[in-house]
Parts: sequence; C-alpha cells; structure tokens
Amino acid sequence: MVARIRHVTLAIDGGTPVRETRWPAYDNGDAYVADEDIAAAVAALRSRRYFRYDSRPHEATETGALEAALCRYFGAGHALGCASGTTALALGLLALDLPPQSDVLCPAFTFAATPSAIVLAGHRPVVVECDDDLQFDLTDLRNRVAAGARAIVVVHMRGFAADMPAVLAIADEFGVPVVEDAVPALGVRLHGRALGTWGRVGAFSTQSDKALNTGEGGFLLTDDPTLYARALVCSGAYESRMARHFVDPPDLDDLSLPLFSWRMDEIRAALARAQLTRLPGRLEAHRRNYERIAAALADQPDVTVRRPVAPGAYLGEALLLQLPDAAAACWFSRALRAEGIGVRAFGDPDDVNVRAFWNWRFLFPDRAAVRAAYPASTAAVGRTVDIPLSANLTEHDCTQLVAAVGKVAAALPGRYR
Ligand SMILES: Cc1ncc(COP(=O)(O)O)c(C=O)c1O
Repeated sequence: MVARIRHVTLAIDGGTPVRETRWPAYDNGDAYVADEDIAAAVAALRSRRYFRYDSRPHEATETGALEAALCRYFGAGHALGCASGTTALALGLLALDLPPQSDVLCPAFTFAATPSAIVLAGHRPVVVECDDDLQFDLTDLRNRVAAGARAIVVVHMRGFAADMPAVLAIADEFGVPVVEDAVPALGVRLHGRALGTWGRVGAFSTQSDKALNTGEGGFLLTDDPTLYARALVCSGAYESRMARHFVDPPDLDDLSLPLFSWRMDEIRAALARAQLTRLPGRLEAHRRNYERIAAALADQPDVTVRRPVAPGAYLGEALLLQLPDAAAACWFSRALRAEGIGVRAFGDPDDVNVRAFWNWRFLFPDRAAVRAAYPASTAAVGRTVDIPLSANLTEHDCTQLVAAVGKVAAALPGRYR
C-alpha cells in the first residue's frame, strides 16, 4: 500500500520521483565520442598544422578530406566546412546573391539562429505560420512567397523532416530558392534522400548536441558550383584558395565579395571525420530509442507524440509531446521535470526558450503583438514540450521516461488550470 502511494503521488506534490539521477544530455557530460575520435583530434594537434589553407595539397588536409567524405556520405556535389551552423546558413544565403534586405521566409517554429543567419546575410527575416504539426502552414507560405519574398529557409526542426516536396512545389511555382536549415537533422532522410540535399543549399552544425560533435563547427552542402564558389570566397578562401576546391574553378573575382573568415580548422575537421565513420551507429541508436518510446506513448490520452511528415522521417534525438494547450504544457513539463526527466515547455514564461518566436526581441520588440499576429504558431508552439533523447540512453532510461510520462499524464485532467 505504501509502495503504491509512493508511486502515484507526483514528485511535484512531494512523492518519490521516477528517476533520481540526472537526465543524460551533452551539457550533463553525456557525449557520444569514442577513443578513435579523440585520437584523430590528437593526431591533428600533433601535426602542428591547424589552418586548412597551408602548403599541403587540398586533399591532404583534414578539412579537405572531411569535405570529400561529406560529399560521399550525403551524395552531394560540394561540401564546405565552416565555423558553425549559423555561419553555414548565412554563407548559403550570401551565395544566393539576392538583393540586399530581401524578404527571406523562415518558419515560426525554429531556433533563434535561423532568423539570425538571415540578418547576418543582410536580409529581412519574415516568419511564416506553422500548423498543428509544427510544420510550415503551406497556405501562409504560398501567400508570403506570392507577396514578394526572395527565398525560403526551411528548417527540419528538432530532427523532424519538413515536407520538402510540398515546400519545393511552392518555391518552384514562384522561382525562389530554398535553403535548408538541416542543423537539427544531420543524417536524416526523407523518401530516401538526405535532408540538406533537397534545396539549393543545406546547412548543418557540428556543435556539441548535434549528431557530429566538434564543440563548435558546421558545414554546407550544395550541387551548384557557382553557389559553392561564392560561399567559399565569403567563408575566407581568398587569394586563389577558392580554386583549390575545384578541378575546373569557376571564373569569380574573389575580391568582389566580402570575406568573413568563417572557416573550419583542422582539429575540428579531424574530429568530425572520425565521427562521420560512426554516424550510422549513432543514428541507429537514436532511432531505436525513439521508436521504443514513441510506440509506448502512442495511446496516451491528452499527450500526443509529434507526427512526422513520413514514417521514420526524424532523427529521434528529441521527443516532442503536444498537450491540449499551453497551460497544460507548462504544468506537464514542471511535473515531469520533478520526476527526473529533462524536459522543457517551449512556452513556459518562467523558463524563457529561444525556440519560441515571441521571445526573439531582436525581431519582435512587442511580444503580445507578435503572438496575436501568429495565432496558430503561438498555440502550436505553446502546447509543446521537448525532451532531449541522448544516443546513449539505456533501455532503463527509456522505460523510466515512459513511466514518468504515464504517471504525470494520468494526473493531468483538472490539474493544470
Ligand atoms: C535550427 C537551428 N539552426 C541553426 C542553429 C545554429 O547552429 P550553431 O549553433 O552551430 O551556429 C541551431 C543550433 O542549435 C539550430 O537549432
């Protein structure tokens, strides 16, 4: 009897938490790095050659070898190692050569780095409403392209593929380029094709909580040699260094573009290249954990697992649960956190989240006004909670997560208002 009471009393009400140890996440020290990755980085350090553009032939550098490996892995024509995901995205936008201060669309549900990269590239971010599944609202997208936007940045947010065929159909109808922010979805495929290779250019990050972890870093992919050459120059491949990346270099004046020094260094490239060989194993671990958890939560009343655009079109590194409304999501996340699960509600006013667009004061000084202007996105983002799923989760971690969600969800009706 005592055991039963201990089990059902929520931890937020003083009961025993389902889990007493910290929820694994990279910032709790949980990193998916093997000895061979560390050995590769140490070898790069010992080489004493940290800058990619030195006297070695391009293919003998760590960064050149990483770029070749990325092209093979993703089936892309060109890859460019960069300083971060944000700079990869900005380079992709700069290389499109749009008129300054063009309107560039991005979804309401994204990380603040997406509109920030648009600003960095000298353009105006214009946010598009999202639907109940946290994807672009395609009617709003079409209307805003028709109103004169010059490019679309699509985001595979929290590892979930965007509906690329639908987005590309709208973009093609109006002749605007699509840039993919594939930062959260490194290695994910949609209909058999890698995310980040659907648009004109795809941007990725290798920051610590991504599927390749070099601390900081990123890369872009494109099949367009002219766009690649422009991105290279802007990244800092000046004084003929851009030409090293081509057998037959395009004719481009490398002083006609600004130089930003957003290059990748040799130590990060060595680390990323070693990790790339183990990426399939990591993706498999994410998928295994995610499928186990999502299947167990499929019939949970009042708590819905985010729907992918196609079966399996997600990374599985984040579990997004949708509650009836924002008040329910806030209460649910607090109660679940008390049970020992690392969870955040995007709309929790006491835990300001950079993935909630109304918090982007650099774009929207009036929080209430932007929420009113984007009612569907405000509701959809506000009712969602986010749980990071490490590649190192054990079966026991997954079982505890499911038990904790079930325990809190059972108490949900009537509790959160
Ligand atoms: C959707 C999205 N885009 C861009 C970025 C920026 O990547 P980085 O931190 O490497 O600049 C992030 C970072 O998490 C992200 O989530």
